[in-house]
Formats: sequence, C-alpha cells, structure tokens
Amino acid sequence: MNTDDTIELLREIDAYIEDLFDPSDEVLAAALRDSRRAGLPKINVSPNQGRLLQLLAAMAGARRILEIGTLGGYSAIHLARALPDDGAMISLEIDEHHARVARNNIARAGLTDKVEIRVGDAHELLGSLTEDNEGPFDVIFIDADKEGYPAYLDASLRLVRSGALILGDNTIRGGTVLDPQEATAQATREFNERIARDPGLTGIILPLIRERIDGLTVARVL
Ligand code: SAH
Ligand code: DHB
Ligand code: MG
Repeated sequence: MNTDDTIELLREIDAYIEDLFDPSDEVLAAALRDSRRAGLPKINVSPNQGRLLQLLAAMAGARRILEIGTLGGYSAIHLARALPDDGAMISLEIDEHHARVARNNIARAGLTDKVEIRVGDAHELLGSLTEDNEGPFDVIFIDADKEGYPAYLDASLRLVRSGALILGDNTIRGGTVLDPQEATAQATREFNERIARDPGLTGIILPLIRERIDGLTVARVL
C-alpha cells in the first residue's frame, strides 16, 4: 500500500471512531461554526482528540486545568467538561478576537463559571501565574505557538503537582519532527526530547490522524 492509501485509510478509521463515539453535540458544532464565521483558523483539535483530552482530564481527576492557546475554545469545552462542579480552568490566549469568540462559545456551553480566559502573551501570563502562586494544576494542555513549547514546558513544570498530566498538541507535525527543517519542528522535537529525558516525567507520544498525521505528547509528573 502506498503512503496516500495509508493516509486515506487512517482518515477513514478516524471517521469510524468519530461516528462511534462522537454523537452530534449542538454546543460543539456551534462552537466550530461560530469560530469559522468569525474567521478563526481551522486549527482546533479534532473531535476524537477533544474526546481524548476530556477522557485524560477525567482519568487524572482534574480539578484545576490550564490551557495554553485557546483559539475559539473548542478544546477548552472538552477539557472543562471533565471538571467537577467546583473545578476551574484557566486558558491563555494572545489574540483578543479569538478570546472573544471563545468566551461566547464557552458561555453557550454553560461553562462560563468554570473557564477563565486570560488575554496576553502566554510567556508573560505563565510568569504571573507562577509568581502569584496560582498553581498547582492537575492538567496542562500546551497548544499555542510551537516555537514556545520548550519554554512552556519549563513554565508548566513550575505549575504542576505530583501525578499531574502535561499534554502537548502537534508534536509530530506531519512527521517533520523526524528531520526538522524549520524552527517550529525543531522546537517541537526539543519539547518531545526533554519530556522523554526528564527523570521527573513518564511520557509517550500518541500519533493521531488529523488533516495530516500529527501527535499528542502525554506526560505524567512523578
Ligand atoms: N487549543 C485550541 C487551538 C489553539 S490554536 C483548540 O484546539 O481548540 C493556537 C492558539 O494559540 C491561537 O489562538 C493563537 O492566537 C494562540 N497563541 C499563539 N501564540 C501565543 C502566545 N504567545 N501566547 C498566547 N497564545 C498564543
Ligand atoms: C497549527 C497550530 C495548531 O495548534 C494545530 O493544532 C494545527 C496547526 C498551525 O499553526 O498551523
Ligand atoms: Mg494544536
């Protein structure tokens, strides 16, 4: 089988899984629809990946979640749905327009009381979170600019408790991490390597099919 056939088969498998486990949900569909209408880029996690994030957060017993990179709030809705009634989530977003769209989507999902969106450069916002002792978090989902991933990992390690999960989106990038030619792929590769080598973390990368082959790095803090 050639590469194109393999990717096509993987897409069909992804659609099969999506049909099985993702019965249509008005809130999520509306979040995507309004994100498109508002001109946001189509770079949210896939439905299956959203479901995986929600499942991982639930398995971790998350009460406090941090997301780096909100976009229209699609992944945030999945993650926040894993929270108990008194749980809370903070999501960091540099773009005021993205944040506005996300706040509307999160309101429609009935999650306004649980999800706080902070607007600014995540590097600075993470510094404030640490200084102000706003941790620890039980799950941190890293999904902003890829060049920032190594620094986001450093910041995340200061904001987690033992047993917490650190998750990183887009860590395979169509396979470009295997032989990185660009700064983004290089930074992602460095992120993966540091997670693999850190004796304080147990990690793995889950390959995922999206528009192209991508991956989710999952690490547990010892
Ligand atoms: N997690 C979202 C997708 C995030 S896309 C989902 O799956 O639904 C990446 C987002 O990170 C974009 O909205 C982009 O504006 C934001 N971003 C990029 N650089 C950033 C930075 N330095 N600080 C905070 N957010 C940033
Ligand atoms: C891009 C960013 C993402 O977070 C993603 O999941 C897919 C694509 C991008 O910047 O192209
Ligand atoms: Mg992403």
